[in-house]
Amino acid sequence: MEDIVGLCKRRGFIFQSSEIYGGYNGFYDYGPLGVELRNNIKQAWWRDFVQRRDDMEGLDSTIIMHPKIWKASGHVDGFSDPLVDCKDSKKRYRADQLFFTPVIIDGETLGYVAFVEGTDLPTILKRAKKIRDWADKTQSKIDEDALANDRTEFTEATPEQREQTLAPEAGKVGSLTAPRAFKLMFETKVGPLADDSAVAYLRPETAQGIFANYKNIVDTGRVKIPFGIAQIGKAFRNEITPRNFIFRSREFEQMEIEYFISPDADWQALHREWIDTCTNWLVSIGLPREGITEDIHPKDKLAFYSQATTDLMFQFPHGEQELWGVACRSDYDLKQHQEHSGKSMEIFDEASKSKFVPHVIEPSLGVDRTLLAVLTAAYTEDEVPNDKGTVEKRTVLKFSPKIAPVKAAIFPLLKNKPELVEVAEKLYKKLQRRWNVFYDASGAIGRRYRRQDEIGTPYGITIDFDTIEKDGTVTLRDRDTCKQRRVTEAELIDFLEEQIEG
Ligand code: GAP
Repeated sequence: MEDIVGLCKRRGFIFQSSEIYGGYNGFYDYGPLGVELRNNIKQAWWRDFVQRRDDMEGLDSTIIMHPKIWKASGHVDGFSDPLVDCKDSKKRYRADQLFFTPVIIDGETLGYVAFVEGTDLPTILKRAKKIRDWADKTQSKIDEDALANDRTEFTEATPEQREQTLAPEAGKVGSLTAPRAFKLMFETKVGPLADDSAVAYLRPETAQGIFANYKNIVDTGRVKIPFGIAQIGKAFRNEITPRNFIFRSREFEQMEIEYFISPDADWQALHREWIDTCTNWLVSIGLPREGITEDIHPKDKLAFYSQATTDLMFQFPHGEQELWGVACRSDYDLKQHQEHSGKSMEIFDEASKSKFVPHVIEPSLGVDRTLLAVLTAAYTEDEVPNDKGTVEKRTVLKFSPKIAPVKAAIFPLLKNKPELVEVAEKLYKKLQRRWNVFYDASGAIGRRYRRQDEIGTPYGITIDFDTIEKDGTVTLRDRDTCKQRRVTEAELIDFLEEQIEG
């Protein structure tokens, strides 16, 4: 993760928000290359899920909506995380991401060590030794098997266990409070009156904008069951512990689909189809299939309205974590809005000649998480020969050409030969009309390649003396293999088109 964060800052992908004021936890800004990468991910998603499908409509709803929407959806009353405070270190934790494990010596439990997700065993053992030493058992052996394996979520700790637990950064046991519900929605006030009636919320998901507009879209008469509504947009959550770079932040973006189906449809089969479609799309933008796994939520952990949820998990630098949630939400949301708004959410289905409130399958993906997954998969350190033939280390981002921020770099072999520069600039201007390309005339050609490798530009195009003196062909270099071949301008454009847009 450190390497990725360092590269992102150095080359202008991602910066900590408000950095000149010391940064602002949970907020990130996207620099020149980051915004290109981000836009390319969103465009690829929009093209594949909206423009290239006949059963999908697009939407762009507002971030601030009528507060009644969040009452109906259940967010006002239920959208919270369990918060735990440490009275000693003043740190805050999410109880469902905090675990505790017993410190057992000679069969007796002396206390518990609390730790956050991802803490390694040596760190836990070091903390356990403090409890052992405080109990005056310095020479005794801690049951390491229990320490490693008997971990429990802190939400399940009894008051007695809490009293005996050593928090991650505390100097004594018993400093953790009982978990309490912490509301995640950001509040704001709308209008000139700053009283309670003015309270509104920044949306914590784009999904409710879709449900709130479902009737408008049905009434335009263009859709028939099954169909989906897709939206890309910002979402805000006052996360207790934003961390792992852009993985969990307080302002992020979602790409969500609500796919409306008949209550009689085989929802399990459709759910499976969506999970496969989503997996294939991740592979199409460059994630390795073997890095994606499925986490099927157990029945007893499902939200009460959910029939099934499967998360697509990805191997991030900080561990295997949720990337894309594919949930079957039944008719819960539409029925809630029907009840709270008094407007019918029924649709007439020509095929079955019946009227019903549809059920819904919801594939919900974070833009920022996708970007982190793409960076993780692309980040490579390898060794390649330099101009002089000696092997040197390089850092390369192996982005798919579909989402790479810069699609190709155009180099005149020498910058002081006007005839090379003229042809190179002409080609650059031509390619720039269609794609984000880069022109670089300075430095040794090997160094120029290396700079592009580091930002993930898939192709290098060099204009040399053969171009101007012989047949007009240019050298096309592949970033990953470093192999070069000569192509005509027409071949070059066909090739780029297929790789970038195919
Ligand atoms: N409408 C359903 C919904 O919002 P979710 O699992 O809470 O479900 C969906 O969020 C996706 O949004 C997640 O799989 C993740 O990719 C992204 N996401 C959620 N919270 C996030 C956060 N704090 N920072 C970045 N991405 C987040």
